[in-house]
Amino acid sequence: MTECLPIWFKFSVALLHKVRLASPADAESLAAIDASVNTHPWNKRQFAVICSCGDLQKQCAMVVEEDGRIDGFLVFSQVLDEASIYSVGVNSAQQGKGLGRLLLQTALLRMREAGAVRCLLEVRQSNVVARRLYEGNGFNLDGIRKRYYPTEGGREDALLMSRHLKRNMQ
Ligand SMILES: CC(C)(COP(=O)(O)OP(=O)(O)OC[C@H]1O[C@@H](n2cnc3c(N)ncnc32)[C@H](O)[C@@H]1OP(=O)(O)O)[C@@H](O)C(=O)NCCC(=O)NCCS
Repeated sequence: MTECLPIWFKFSVALLHKVRLASPADAESLAAIDASVNTHPWNKRQFAVICSCGDLQKQCAMVVEEDGRIDGFLVFSQVLDEASIYSVGVNSAQQGKGLGRLLLQTALLRMREAGAVRCLLEVRQSNVVARRLYEGNGFNLDGIRKRYYPTEGGREDALLMSRHLKRNMQ
C-alpha cells in the first residue's frame, strides 16, 4: 500500500532519481509507461514529436530516471507567461514514492524560470491520486467541464485547475 510508505523512504527514492528534459531516444519508454498507466495513452509516434521538441510553445516532456531507467514523465507547454500540463505518468511499480511530486515540482520551477506566472491543467474527477498531487502542490479548482472525458461506461467531468507561479515558490 504505497500511501503507507514512510516519508524518509519516499525522500530517499526521490533523491536517487534525476529529472531532465526528454530526448527523442526516450519516446518508446514514455509510450510504454503511458500505455500501462493511462486509459487513453499517446502512441510512440506522438511521443517522438513531443520528445524532439526544442520549443516550449509546443508540447515538451520531462522525465524522471534512475541509472538510465525512466520511471515517469510529465508533458507540458508554455506560451508567453502561461504554462499547461497535459499528462503525467509514473511506472506502476514506482508510484507512491514521491516521483510524481518530484516531476511536478521540477516542471513548475522550470516554467517559472522560463517566465510563466500561471500553470493550468485538467484532471478526471475520479482520479483521486492525481487530484491530491495537484492540490498538495498549490493547484486550485477553477471550474468543471461537464462530461468531458470518455470512460468505459460513458463520460466523466474534467476538473480545471491552476496555480500561480510566484517568485519565491517552493
Ligand atoms: C498520478 C501520478 C502521476 C502520481 O505520481 P506518484 O509518483 O504516484 O505520486 P507521489 O508519490 O509523488 O505522491 C504525490 C501525492 O499524490 C497523492 N498520492 C500518492 N499515492 C497515493 C495513493 N495511493 N492514494 C492517495 N493519494 C496518493 C498524495 O497526496 C501524494 O502526496 P504526499 O506524498 O505528500 O501525501 C501516478 O500515480 C500515476 O502515474 N498515475 C496514473 C496516471 C495518472 O493518473 N496521471 C495523471 C493524469 S492527470
